[in-house]
This record gives sequence, structure tokens and C-alpha cells, in this order.
Amino acid sequence: MPRKMVVIFGASNILWMVFAVSQAFKIDIFPESKIIAQIGDSISLTCSTTGCESPSFSWRTQIDSPLNGKVRNEGTKSTLTMDPVSLGNEHYYLCTVICESQKLERGIPVEIYSFPKDPEIHLSGPLEVGKPVTVTCLVPDVYPFERLEIELLKGNRSVKTQDFLEVSEMKSQETKSLEVTFTPIDEDIGKALVCQATLHINEIDSQPQVRETTKKLQVYISPKDTVISVNPSTSLQEGDSVTMTCTSEGLPAPQIFWSKKLDNGNLQLLSENATLTLIAMRMEDSGIYMCEGVNLVGKDRKEVKLIVQVAPGDTTILISPSSILEEGRSVNMTCSSDGLPAPKILWSRLLSNGDLQPLSENTTLTLTSTKMEDSGIYVCEGINQVGISRKEVELIIQVAPKDIRLTAFPSESVKEGDTVIISCTCGNVPQTLIILKKKAGSGYIVLKSTDGAYTIHRAQLEDAGVYECESKNEVGLQLRSITLDVKGRESNKHYFSPELLVLYCASSLIIPAIGMIIYFARKANMKGSYSLVEAQKSKV
Ligand SMILES: *[C@@H]1O[C@H](CO)[C@@H](O)[C@H](O)[C@H]1NC(C)=O
Ligand SMILES: *[C@@H]1O[C@H](CO)[C@@H](O)[C@H](O)[C@H]1NC(C)=O
Ligand SMILES: *[C@@H]1O[C@H](CO)[C@@H](O)[C@H](O)[C@H]1NC(C)=O
Ligand SMILES: *[C@@H]1O[C@H](CO)[C@@H](O)[C@H](O)[C@H]1NC(C)=O
Repeated sequence: MPRKMVVIFGASNILWMVFAVSQAFKIDIFPESKIIAQIGDSISLTCSTTGCESPSFSWRTQIDSPLNGKVRNEGTKSTLTMDPVSLGNEHYYLCTVICESQKLERGIPVEIYSFPKDPEIHLSGPLEVGKPVTVTCLVPDVYPFERLEIELLKGNRSVKTQDFLEVSEMKSQETKSLEVTFTPIDEDIGKALVCQATLHINEIDSQPQVRETTKKLQVYISPKDTVISVNPSTSLQEGDSVTMTCTSEGLPAPQIFWSKKLDNGNLQLLSENATLTLIAMRMEDSGIYMCEGVNLVGKDRKEVKLIVQVAPGDTTILISPSSILEEGRSVNMTCSSDGLPAPKILWSRLLSNGDLQPLSENTTLTLTSTKMEDSGIYVCEGINQVGISRKEVELIIQVAPKDIRLTAFPSESVKEGDTVIISCTCGNVPQTLIILKKKAGSGYIVLKSTDGAYTIHRAQLEDAGVYECESKNEVGLQLRSITLDVKGRESNKHYFSPELLVLYCASSLIIPAIGMIIYFARKANMKGSYSLVEAQKSKV
């Protein structure tokens, strides 16, 4: 630049000397010194004369390139207009005026620049604390770029300054940029990123062209520290409600998404609210719930497992083949109990004192070769943390009637008028029907018995005969029979067994004997007739 200026002053001195020769004839040019114009502007150079009636003007550039402008001559003035100004206008322009035999010339340099737009700030990605990012500060369509300086400031501090001193072969507008890579820290949040471009086009005026772009540092923080709070608990019972609240730290504040993990691994979106409330929960609502905090730069997840427990529901018992069995058969008793967590099974036997005797923790309780003593009440319990569900079953082991005994008391051979008890007992086999019968002709007469006993008061001769006991249940039948013999008496009035009296009279104890007599007398009285005399007589 300074060298150019020297050239300009040199030319002016020569012109001045030419002008000095003819005092009356003068040439002026406007603007007087150099003109600086931006590409696209419109500028005019005006050349005027004094001291000449009809001057003749001509314009040229110092190196004889095209004018790239329009000339208008009006009397003593000539105007060269460049509209729009282009790179082709950067010349030293000369105006020549001829007046008769005199010739005058004035020149002016036209300097061109291009600096049409504010810088642009570009980021390689969202600004995240701790993650390096590249900032590009871009200045478009600059000419002459060797006079450009770009500075990037963060907050009030300069980060980098760059100029572009390499000289290019061709005149052209170029886009220049500065690049800085840095790692944002928490303190950078809210700071301003400033890109300042300065084009030093005129050192003399010391008024550089400055353009500036400011971008607020929008620093992001990826979601982190995601926390779930569950009220009342992650362990719930059917029908309960639960409220889960999720928080996640980040900048900008993460948006919360609640979803449930399905069995196939997919996620089912439940809510976009931080708080998720589930009401009237069911067992199927058990599972993994996921909260996700999401913002522009990332996501953070947290999971929670909910267990909805169901108190053991119905406990059921299946018996194969049946709860009533014949002795010796096997039986499978299978217990099932619903619930969550799955209940544990406990089989026990109910004892007569009400206690439970544990037998098995298997679902199926098998009794092989059952005996009568296996009969009783079996209890299955379904047990989990929530409770116990209980079911009972009565097992009956049937035994065919056995050990049947048919007896006549006092004897199978009695005298007329005696009392005889015919009794049938059937061991200890339950569920056994006992029928006492007496043979009559070709058939039987069923006797009205109580607990297998039939009492004949004052046996008659016709009470003699065959008595039969039929003992039966679903499993079997047994028959027993006895023959009762009833002997006739000489006198129907004697009721007492002489042997008995002899037995007692044989003892020397008279008083007890009399007591015994009174006892028998009373007994006889009850039966109707009695004669003490005859009784005395018979003992003698
Ligand atoms: C620093 O920059 C801020 C704006 O980012 C401005 O308000 C403040 O005045 C500046 N401080 C100094 C010392 O330049
Ligand atoms: C989120 O909560 C607001 C009230 O806080 C409610 O209006 C909206 O329906 C809720 N959205 C979902 C998806 O539950
Ligand atoms: C009991 O279960 C076992 C095993 O399942 C089976 O082999 C057997 O036949 C069953 N017994 C009865 C009486 O059902
Ligand atoms: C439980 O079942 C297993 C096999 O299924 C068997 O070995 C075990 O003896 C059974 N326990 C009882 C107490 O029945």
C-alpha cells in the first residue's frame, strides 16, 4: 500500500507541473483522493475543468484495461459511473481533458473490497460438558482476504485470532474461516461465543470494517442420575395402587418416559409424565418398569421391578382314584394352589388332638397299600409370603367286614322265661351295616336290633331257632348264625336260677343272701309276679 501511495503522489507532481504552465486552464477530479468502494455499490468519478470553453474529456485506466463504467459528458464536466462496482473496477482511473492545444490529466485510485455478511458460527455438534466440539467461524465472500482478521472469543476472552496473509494470484471473493476445538466445562454454560471479523481496508483512516456475530453457548448435559422413587413399595398385592416418580438430571431438563418391558423384550410406552400411577394392580402388572430421561444430547435409564403378589387363591385337591378306597389300594392326592409367588405345598394329616402331622412337601401325596388306619383327614396347605390357603379331604379306607361275632347271652341254651340277648359285633370296621335275622320257614324275619343287639324278654319256646347276622359294606359281606335252644319249665312261675341262689345261699352270710333275695324280688316285681314263699321253698 505505501508503495502505491508513492506512485500516486509522483503522478500528481507531474500533473501539477503541466498545470503550472497554463494558469487559466484547470482540471479537478472528485473525489479528490482515493475512493474505496464495496462490490455492488455504485460510485461516480467526476472530472471538471475551468478556463476552457469546450473541453474534450476522456477516461482510461492506468494499465489500459476496460473502464467497466459509463461516461457522461456535460459541458465542462465528465462523470464516470460504476454501477454496480465489481472487482474489475479496482484501478487507477485517469481523466484527460484537451482544450485546444492544451492537455491536462488527473488520476484517482479506486479500491475495491467485499465484506457483505456477518460471520457465521457453526458447531460440529451440540455443546456438551466434557465433550470436545469444533467451532467454525466463517466469513463469506471476502476481498481482499489478506486484510482479513478473524477472532473467536468465549465470554470475554479471546480464544484464537487468525489472519490470511498468503497472496492469491487472482482477484476473487473468498470465504475464510477459523476453527477452534475445545471441551466445554460447566462454567461455559450461558457464556457468549463471539466471532469477530475485521477487514483492514484503510490504515490511514484507521477505521476498519468490523462485523461480529454472537452465539450464546447453549451447553447441554446428557441425562444422568436418573432416580426412581416408588410409593408405597415395589412389593404389592393384587388390587393395590402404586405411584412411581422418576427424576433425571440434565440440560435441558430431560423429558421422562415411562415404559414397561414386555416378555418379548420390547418396551411398551406408558406415560410421558414423571409420575406414573398404576391402580387396581393385577398379577400381570408384575414386571420391569423403565424410566428414561431423554434430552437433545442423550438418554439415561433406570429400571424398577414390581411384584404384584396374589394371596394363595383356591387350593384344590384331586384324588385318584377316589377318597373312598378298599384296603390295599393306592391313592394319589394331588394338591394345587394358585398364587404369586407360587405357593409351597405342605401335606399333613390331621390328628385326633387337632394337631397337624407334616407328611410331604410334594404336590402329590401317594399312599400305597392303604390300611384302614390310613383313614382320616388329610390337609393340604398352599403357603407363600402373603398367606396360607388350606384344603382338607377325608380319606376312607374300606375294609370288608371281618371278625364278625354272633353271640347269645347268657347262653345259646336257655330256659323258657329267661332273658336272652343276641348280639352281633363286627370288629372295628366302619361303614358296616349289620342286619339281625331269624329263620322263619323258608325265609327270614328281620329283627329290630339296636347296635347289633336284640333282646328277647322272657323267652318262649318259639324263640328257639336259627339266628343269623348279616354284616356288609360296599366292599364285602359276612354271615354268622347261631341256634338258640329254649327249654320248657316244670313250673312257669319260677324265674330265678336255682344255681344262683345255691351259689349265694351256700355262703354263710345270711344277710347278704337276704339282700340278694330282696334284689331278685325287686327285679321279679318289675317283671310282674313274684312269690317269696315259693322262692324260699325252692331254695330248701
Ligand atoms: C464480559 O462479557 C459480558 C457479556 O458476555 C459483558 O456483559 C461484560 O461487560 C463483559 N465484561 C468485561 C470485563 O468485558
Ligand atoms: C401427565 O400429567 C398431566 C397432569 O400433570 C396430565 O394432564 C396428562 O394427561 C398426563 N399425561 C399422561 C400421558 O399421563
Ligand atoms: C399315582 O401316580 C403315579 C405317578 O404319577 C402313577 O404311576 C400311579 O398310577 C398313580 N396311582 C393312582 C392310584 O392313581
Ligand atoms: C417327593 O417326590 C420325590 C420325587 O418326585 C420323591 O423322591 C420323594 O420321596 C417325595 N417325598 C415325599 C415326602 O413323598
